[in-house]
Amino acid sequence: MALFKPLSDIGHGLWKAQIFTSALDLKIFDFLGNGEKSEDEILESCGIKNHRGRDFLNSLVAMDLLNKDPASGKYSNSESTQMFLVQSSPDYTGLFFQFRGRVEGNDFAHLTQVLKGENVKNKLTDFNAAYDADPNTPKFFGDYMKSCITFVSQLLPQRLDQFWKSVTTFTDIGGGTGYATIELCKAQTHLIGTNTDLGQCKPVYDEYTSALDESVKSRVNFKSLDFFKEEFPKGQDVIMMGNVIHDWSDEVKFMLIKKAHDALESGKHILIYDFLIDEKNPKNTLDNFLISVHMQTIATGNQFTSEEITKYLTDAGFKDIQIVKLDYNESAIIGTKI
Ligand SMILES: C[S@@+](CC[C@H](N)C(=O)[O-])C[C@H]1O[C@@H](n2cnc3c(N)ncnc32)[C@H](O)[C@@H]1O
Repeated sequence: MALFKPLSDIGHGLWKAQIFTSALDLKIFDFLGNGEKSEDEILESCGIKNHRGRDFLNSLVAMDLLNKDPASGKYSNSESTQMFLVQSSPDYTGLFFQFRGRVEGNDFAHLTQVLKGENVKNKLTDFNAAYDADPNTPKFFGDYMKSCITFVSQLLPQRLDQFWKSVTTFTDIGGGTGYATIELCKAQTHLIGTNTDLGQCKPVYDEYTSALDESVKSRVNFKSLDFFKEEFPKGQDVIMMGNVIHDWSDEVKFMLIKKAHDALESGKHILIYDFLIDEKNPKNTLDNFLISVHMQTIATGNQFTSEEITKYLTDAGFKDIQIVKLDYNESAIIGTKI
């Protein structure tokens, strides 16, 4: 049976993820944020009305998401859920997992067809069309992207402190809501940042920047830019692309890196942050392989190794390539134009 357990764990992965996602939807972890509660209190407050809701709660206990006091039978958050899944916590990332469970779970339903090279509907190949098709998409997608880079945006200014101290201006290409630009300018108070994206993202950027302190707001701005049709802004110290090139084919990846190169002057920098994969030791980067397969499922892209990104940058005309690990699965890759 020991040999069966790893298979059972993987085979039940979708069910576990759905139970986890429903717990987030029902705000179970928020409700337990202030301390332990009885079964009846949870069922009543979180609106669980089916005939045996406690099986759902005990599943969460069995998955180490909740603790259960053996004497009182009361439930409480685990250390992880208390830290990351209670909305009032500074480290809250519940939205990220809710999106992962819903958006990405559905996309993965087509994986077998994708692997067989069959056409699947709704592959993301034109963000302009996707944004125009539903006016809610820029906000929905922007919030999702923001939830994906919550940690990275805080670590980018910290881990690369000396790098940022040596520059003043940067432009983020495909920056979406502007969250990375905002966090960089908050933490590095000399920086002046331009967030670029398709024009449909401007209202979401405005929402994200509306409550900013004037000392930050005066140093960030939005520029509408379609990276397929337009050149990148010139005169910048840094051109950044975070989780952007992974959406696209190798040809488009290289085209975007080359556009950054063409816009920069000699001695200035490109900074890419993305999820590097380790093909020599796949176990080192399981999450990033999952993202790579996901990119192939929803778009035309894929993740890449440190060797591959180094080659793209070198071929485009960058030197001194540095790779710095940011959070547990994202890395920053920096190159300097020759
Ligand atoms: C995966 S998101 C990354 C967002 C952000 N940089 C981050 O790290 O979360 C890709 C971004 O590329 C933008 N994008 C897609 N096509 C674009 C185009 N043709 N021109 C400019 N931006 C585009 C999308 O709107 C989206 O914000």
